[in-house]
Order: sequence, then C-alpha cells, then structure tokens
Amino acid sequence: MKVYALVPAAGSGRRMGSETKKQFLLLGGRPLFLHCLAVFAHHPQVTGIVLVVSPGDEETAARLVAEYGLDKKVEKIIPGGSERQDSVRLGLAALPEDTDFVLIHDAARPFLTPDLIDRTLSAAVRTGAAVAAAPVKDTIKVAAPNRLVERTLERSTLWSVATPQTFSYRLILEAHRRAQEDGFTGTDDAVLVERLGRPVELVPASDTNIKVTTPTDLLLAECLLGSAAGAAKEAGMPGEEAEKERGFMMRVGSGFDVHAFKPGRRLVLGGVEIPYQRGLEGHSDADVLLHAVADALLGAAGERDIGHHFPDQDPAWAGISSLIILEKTGEIVRRRGFSITNIDSLVIAQEPKIAPYVERMRANIAQALKIPSERVAVKATSTERLGFTGRGEGIAAQAVCLLQEVSTR
Ligand code: CTP
Ligand code: MG
Repeated sequence: MKVYALVPAAGSGRRMGSETKKQFLLLGGRPLFLHCLAVFAHHPQVTGIVLVVSPGDEETAARLVAEYGLDKKVEKIIPGGSERQDSVRLGLAALPEDTDFVLIHDAARPFLTPDLIDRTLSAAVRTGAAVAAAPVKDTIKVAAPNRLVERTLERSTLWSVATPQTFSYRLILEAHRRAQEDGFTGTDDAVLVERLGRPVELVPASDTNIKVTTPTDLLLAECLLGSAAGAAKEAGMPGEEAEKERGFMMRVGSGFDVHAFKPGRRLVLGGVEIPYQRGLEGHSDADVLLHAVADALLGAAGERDIGHHFPDQDPAWAGISSLIILEKTGEIVRRRGFSITNIDSLVIAQEPKIAPYVERMRANIAQALKIPSERVAVKATSTERLGFTGRGEGIAAQAVCLLQEVSTR
C-alpha cells in the first residue's frame, strides 16, 4: 500500500502576526513545521512526504528539512497557492499516480502522533475518508450579523475537526477536481468529499492535537511539549525516554586541542586573524580554539572526534578555514537532533594578547553555529610562563558545551 503524507505549510500566518512566518517559528527549539514531518518520516507506513510551502520558501524549507535529517522521506517541496485548498490541490497533483492513500496534515499541528496516523489510515481504508476530530467542549450558538442569537446547537452531535484528514487518493483527487469545477472553497478537505455524497468517518483524537494559530497557541504548545514529559514519567516511561519526550535531555561535551607555533604562518584564532610574528602549524588554518569547540560539540552529540570527521589526510581540509569545519559540525549536531544551549571556551597562550579579539571570536563561532553570540563565551589565560604554552612553544585551547535534545515527537 502506497501511503503519502501531504503537508500544507504555505500559509502567511496572519493571525500569528510574527515577523518570521509561523511555520518557521521555533517550538521546543525546532521550527514548527518540522514537528509533524518528523513523526511522518519515522512512521513505517508512510512511503513519502510532499511538503507545500509559500513560493520562494522552497530553499529555506529544504535546508531545514536536510538539517534535521528528514530529507530521505521528504520527496518533494513545492510552491503552494493563495488559499489552503489551492495548496492542497497542488500537493495532490505532485503525488505519484499510484498513491493509494494520502494523509493531509497541517504543518501548524505539531502534536501529530503515530497512533493518529494509524487510526485515520485504517478508517480511511474502511470508509475512503477519515478525519481526526474531538468532541466540542463549548456550547455553540448561531448568531445573526448583529450578534443576536438565532439558535443553540445540540452539543452532543458536534465535533471539532482537525487533521490528519486521510483519504483514498482517487477519491480526494476527484473531490478537488469537482470543487474547482464548481468554484467551491471549503474550510477543510473532508467537506469536498461530503459534497460528493460520499461518507466521511470521524476519528476521535486527543484535544492536544492543537493548531498553532495565535501567539497564545504557541505558548500553549510549549507547555504541552513540556508536560508530555511529566505524563511520560507518570506512565512509568524510563527516565531517559521521558526526558527525550520532553525535549529536555541535556548533553555535555568537552574538547581540547594544541598546536605548535611555526614561523611564517598566519595566526588564526576563533576565525580572527591576529597580527603576530608566528602562526600555528597544522593541516587546516590550525585554529586551535575552533577545533576544541568542534570537538566538544561532537563529543556531546555522541559522535567521533574532529579527526574522524575532518581527517588530516583529506586534501579537502588543507588550508581551509576552520569556521567551515565548525559550521559542518553544527550541521552534524542538529542532524542528530540537538540544539546548542551554550559553549564556554578558553584559549591558553602566553602571547599574544587575546582580549582585543574576543568579541569577534564569539561572533564568528555564534554565526558558524547559527546561535546567538550570548551563548558563546571565549576566555583567555596565560600559564605564568610555565609549561609549553608558558614558554611560547604553542597555544592550547579547551571548550565545554551543553546540548539539548530536541523532541522527535
Ligand atoms: N496553508 C497553506 N496554503 C495557504 C494557506 C494555509 O498551505 N494558502 C497551510 C498553513 O501553512 C497551515 C495550514 O494550511 O499549515 C493551516 O492554515 P492556518 O493555520 O490558517 O495557517 P495560516 O494560513 O498560515 O495562518 P492565518 O490563517 O492566520 O494567516
Ligand atoms: Mg489560514
């Protein structure tokens, strides 16, 4: 059975009113639209994913999808249309012809669960169309434009529908074709099937399956993300898994590096070229500080060391700026599902004076790792003329970092 996920993420987020488009805002340290993508990507029954974004956002979305290691399952990223229904229609047209079922799910709903995928899918296999829904909690009244109540609806028959909305591919294609023909725009996908007189089954879903629409919703979503861990612990999930569920698992790493002075070389520390009569010897630019930072990050992520990832023998790294090595290290860390909380580092050198360059070093490290510079510290010390650094034979650097595991729910 060929099952595709179709994720519309081409909205403008008007009601969120944020400068960054809603789908790219961070929730639990990860862009909003990636939350449901991760769930789809890890689901064994989902063959592939088609993501629909605003025209012009394709590259940004593709970069983030790759950064979080989801590019294997996300087969296409295509531009959407002006209404959600247009985005969905364009997405449907981009699916392989032999698709059997499609799960349409708003990028703005981060709390998708594997169980909800399973249940809407098996209902759709039965009925042709199945949508996630929750019983309405409030009393719903119909009012005239002047706000005078006309009637009160019987609450026990009312459901609030969400996504995933899961359909036989042929049925939803036909429903969209007919809607376009008739010039009909609905507020969800199922209504287009209902217009054909075909059955649509409601699949009870948790009321935590919220759509992030306003700033309050984002706050609520952060709370839900946090409380998931509490619930997991209550349910007796092992501590580590519960922490992961919450996205709160912390990981510490340490790095250390030494390079010897060599006349005739440039001295580069923290990506800053420092005027000095000697530089450091090494295969790359020998930026001892960046190497220590990169090693700390790799260690915290449970990866092998810098020599393994960027081998000395590889001509690709000869003379290269270590900022590129650091940038690539940041990508590895993010792909492993971590965000960087902070970095503290220390340059151990008798000479030259490092202090005048510290701010630029912090900025360079922060930029390479795509984090604010307030999360990066660079300090320096001499060793009172003791040891090899004290004798001016070389420079050493050490770093520690803290990573936070981003939830993969
Ligand atoms: N969407 C889309 N194409 C559109 C409009 C919306 O793909 N032309 C997507 C949104 O990105 C979102 C989902 O459909 O993932 C549900 O839409 P909604 O929550 O309304 O998001 P926005 O339209 O972005 O928000 P707003 O209505 O506040 O502008
Ligand atoms: Mg909208």
